[in-house]
Parts: sequence; C-alpha cells; structure tokens
Amino acid sequence: MNAPHAPAHHPDPAHLAPEYVRHIARYIPGKPVDELAREFGLDERTIVKLASNENPRGPSAAVRAAIAKATDELSRYPDGNGFALKSALAHRFGVAPECVVLGNGSNDILELVTQAFLRPGDHAVYARHAFAVYPLATQARGATGIEVAAKEYGHDLAAMRRAITASTRIVFVANPNNPTGTWIAPDALEAFVASVPSDVLVVLDEAYNEYLEPAQCAPSAAWVARYPHLVVSRTFSKAYGLAALRVGYGIMNANVAEMLNRVRQPFNVNALAQAAALTALADTDYVAESRDLNRTGRAALEEGFRSLGLAWVPSHANFLLVKVGDAGRVYQKLLRQGVIVRPVANYGLPEWLRVTVGLPDENRRFLEALGGAVRP
Ligand SMILES: Cc1ncc(COP(=O)(O)O)c(C=O)c1O
Repeated sequence: MNAPHAPAHHPDPAHLAPEYVRHIARYIPGKPVDELAREFGLDERTIVKLASNENPRGPSAAVRAAIAKATDELSRYPDGNGFALKSALAHRFGVAPECVVLGNGSNDILELVTQAFLRPGDHAVYARHAFAVYPLATQARGATGIEVAAKEYGHDLAAMRRAITASTRIVFVANPNNPTGTWIAPDALEAFVASVPSDVLVVLDEAYNEYLEPAQCAPSAAWVARYPHLVVSRTFSKAYGLAALRVGYGIMNANVAEMLNRVRQPFNVNALAQAAALTALADTDYVAESRDLNRTGRAALEEGFRSLGLAWVPSHANFLLVKVGDAGRVYQKLLRQGVIVRPVANYGLPEWLRVTVGLPDENRRFLEALGGAVRP
C-alpha cells in the first residue's frame, strides 16, 4: 500500500517542478514594436525592428490570399497529419511523406527531437554561440548540455566530434548559425555527419538555408537516406516571411519521424499556417528575390560598419553580428531612436549586437542611429 501523502511544506509551488526546470534561463525574444512604442512614447509606424531575423518583405501576395481563404474554415481543426503540405515537401525534396514531420515553427522540431530521444542524464552536444534553443530544449528534459568552444565564432566540428561520448544522444549543428551567421561547407558537413556514431542523432538546423546562395546549399535532405541518424530542420519563418504563423518541418528517417509524431501535439500546425506554407513553398521566385534583397542589404550594412570602423563577423544569413563595445549601452541608445536590434550577451557575446538585414530604408535608419550611438 502507498504511504499516505504527507503535506508539502514548500511555500513556493515552483519548487514542485524538477530542479532542472527551475534552473532554466528563459529564452529572451526580440523586443516587440508595440512594447517599445509604449515604453518610449513612440509612434509604432516610425519604429524599425531588426531584431528577430524576419523577412522584411513579409509573405507574398499569393500567400496572403491563401491565408485569407483558409479563414473560411476557422471552426474546423486543421489536418493533424498535414497531408497536403507534407506531400509537397516530400515531392520537393525527393523523400517519402513519412520522412517529413511538421512543426509549430522549426523550434517545435528541435523540441520534439529532444522530447522523443533525450532521457535525464543524457548528453547533447552543441557549439558555443549556437542557437539558444539547443541548451533550453536539452535542459527541459533533464539532460546535460555539452558546449564546445567556437572556432572563429562558428562550429569547431573536429572538437564537437571529440566531445561525443557514450552518453551523447544528440548533436546540434546550425548552418548557417544564429547569432553568428557562420557557415559550414557541404563537404565538411557531410564528413562530420558520417563521422558521428549511428546511435547519436545529428540535428542539422537549416533555418536560414534559403538565404544561402544555391551553390552553397548542402543536399542535406538527400543525405537522410544515407544517414539514418540525421535530422534536418527547416522553417517558413525566415525567407518565406511567415514567422507569426509558426510553421517549420523536419526531414528524417521514417522511424525517427514516427517517434516525433508520437510525442507531438495532434494538431501542432494550424490550418492558416499549413495553407500559407503550401503556397509559399511553390513561390520560388519570391524566395529568390528575398535572397537578392538580403545580399544587397547585407553589403550595405557591411559598408556602413566599415565607414564607422566597426568589426563584424562575415555572415551567410539575413543578419550580421557587429562589435560595438558596450553593447548594452548602444542597444539602449538605438531603442531611444526607435531602432530595435538584438543584444547577444546571453550568447557570450557582450560586446556585440545582432542586426537583421531590413529593407533599404530600414538599413539606412539603423546605420544613422548606430553612428550616433557608438560615439563616446
Ligand atoms: C538557428 C535557428 N533555428 C531555429 C529557429 C526557430 O525558428 P522558428 O521556430 O520560427 O522556425 C531560429 C529562430 O530564430 C533560428 O535562428
């Protein structure tokens, strides 16, 4: 017989959560436009937000129309199996639909992999300055994160390989990486995946893949057939301009996908998101235009940094990491001028700010404000 339940004497019910949950440092998102407008009494229309690596163009007109049409069915649950979107993705990448898992943003895919595969005490390996969700998702499972020192702000794959032990279940690789914008060439990446033991999952996070020049893109979806321990994660939040709708996907071995499907919410991707993503996926010209705009915008920002005498990390994504010294002070000064960027002290980069490439006018506004903010 069970012992009678003794009354708890904790004054704070938070103590009922496991210690590893209580010790999680929450994800800090970019400051929302309306919050800054409230705090500083600014007109929202004058605020420039370059803080969350969104596509400044938003979604295409065709995608907006698909979303509007999907609102006719708001009282219905979405297709919990995401048949149409999964079929389109499977067709695009030449894999079976069973190899595709849809997520509420690609963040969901990262969480689902850890939920399905990490036990308390397991290890997950990731790079210093890599995307903040890897340590968060690892810690939420009671697993241990092993952070590997960076090499020129990017992943040191040889050191990451050496960090894998019998306790390791997952290795996260972001390519390009956020917040550094660093990139790993396909050959080096494939050699790494091949070198990782088959009982360790490699989660290859390609959230910014569409911003790479086509010749730089790894054929990662095709690798899945060769490497059953590879999970490729992609999103519609960045180049496709759909961050608000929350839709991403993973491509992986069908048996791995089945494990993710067992732990995900039955309706984890909403109907508007599915309709939007399906239309966006077909609009390859729109993505190519966004990539072009990003390339010229990134060059304009680099030119601005050069003329201000500031160092930056060469980026392969839609953002740049720029060294400004006292980043907290510069961030606050930019806010006062209605420009929101992202401090990255929580990534171990207290002297740097991350700025998303915006529209030409937004980039100009940012550079003007930055010029004033970095003056002593
Ligand atoms: C490297 C990386 N992976 C994944 C994500 C998650 O994005 P989402 O959940 O919107 O797909 C982000 C978002 O900033 C990111 O930078």
